[in-house]
Amino acid sequence: MKLVLVFLLAAIPICCYASSSNCRAMDDVVAQITNSSVSVAEFQRVIKSYAPLPYDKKALGEVKQCFLDQSEETLANYRVMMNAIYDSEDCPQTS
Ligand SMILES: *[C@@H]1O[C@H](CO)[C@@H](O)[C@H](O)[C@H]1NC(C)=O
Repeated sequence: MKLVLVFLLAAIPICCYASSSNCRAMDDVVAQITNSSVSVAEFQRVIKSYAPLPYDKKALGEVKQCFLDQSEETLANYRVMMNAIYDSEDCPQTS
């Protein structure tokens, strides 16, 4: 379950790049999802302000809850992984 979630979230920046939209939104989403002080409701509000397409609010809440259930160490590791993906050569940044 944990692994599926990680792959799911790792796919987001790729979609983000493919649609050539502003990826600063993605940085913010990662910061919000890995911040254990951010509640599910707060997270859903942030996503709502960025989402260009309809999405499943309940499922998103479950994803955030899943992150809230992780240890600080796991959250920190997740941030490191996301940074590694962003900084890789295969992920050119437009800004
Ligand atoms: C986490 O979220 C809280 C509340 O929104 C905010 O005050 C805090 O600065 C955030 N922490 C980090 C590390 O971004």
